[in-house]
Amino acid sequence: MKSAALLLALATLGAASARAVDYKSQIAPIFRTKCYECHHTSKKVKGDVDLADDKMPENIGAGKHIIPNEPKKSTMLIYCTLPDDDEDVMPPKGKNRLTAAELKLLETWITEGASLAAGGSAPAPTATAPAAGGPQKWTSSDGKVIEAAFVRLEGENVVLTVTATGVTHLVPLTRLSPESQAQAKAAK
Ligand code: HEC
Repeated sequence: MKSAALLLALATLGAASARAVDYKSQIAPIFRTKCYECHHTSKKVKGDVDLADDKMPENIGAGKHIIPNEPKKSTMLIYCTLPDDDEDVMPPKGKNRLTAAELKLLETWITEGASLAAGGSAPAPTATAPAAGGPQKWTSSDGKVIEAAFVRLEGENVVLTVTATGVTHLVPLTRLSPESQAQAKAAK
């Protein structure tokens, strides 16, 4: 049965996305300890970049410092990997640098779509990007979360491309949580 297979696919992918880097518990603490003094708590935030949680959506998206799924094009990550003596290195002058493990987390988080959603259950900020087809979080009716890009609505189904696999699925709306159904209907 087609829909049963899709449900299985959703459930399996939900399990895989549980390994995703979590913004709140893994990324925000890095910014707090290594960047906030100049990019949030300072009188005037440097470079017009505020890394506070509620300001993060302004840093994410096409043409911004964090480009979801594109770590190699994300200046936020690039600046943190420059040599100590590069004038653009962040934090400046190579002081209090990010460790290799922190850089890896940041890279993985961006690769996974730079979602700010805690535990991945709320829609990612990229959900507001018009027609960009960026990845969003989707919750199945039984609570499993996947990250996928909206493609189109097809009758009572939504077509989604799953970020982790690149595979496109036709998912009956009834298989999604009410919030995700609304998200699908609002997407264009
Ligand atoms: C000691 C202060 C300081 C710390 C700590 C610091 N920065 Fe910066 N940052 C600056 C300054 C000053 C600028 C503006 C540089 C400029 O405009 O030339 C800047 C600019 C930036 C920019 C924008 C650059 C541009 O081209 O617009 C990004 C992105 C950035 N910082 C990321 C970070 C990250 C991520 C961290 C933590 C890992 C961090 N910074 C830590 C001082 C700091």
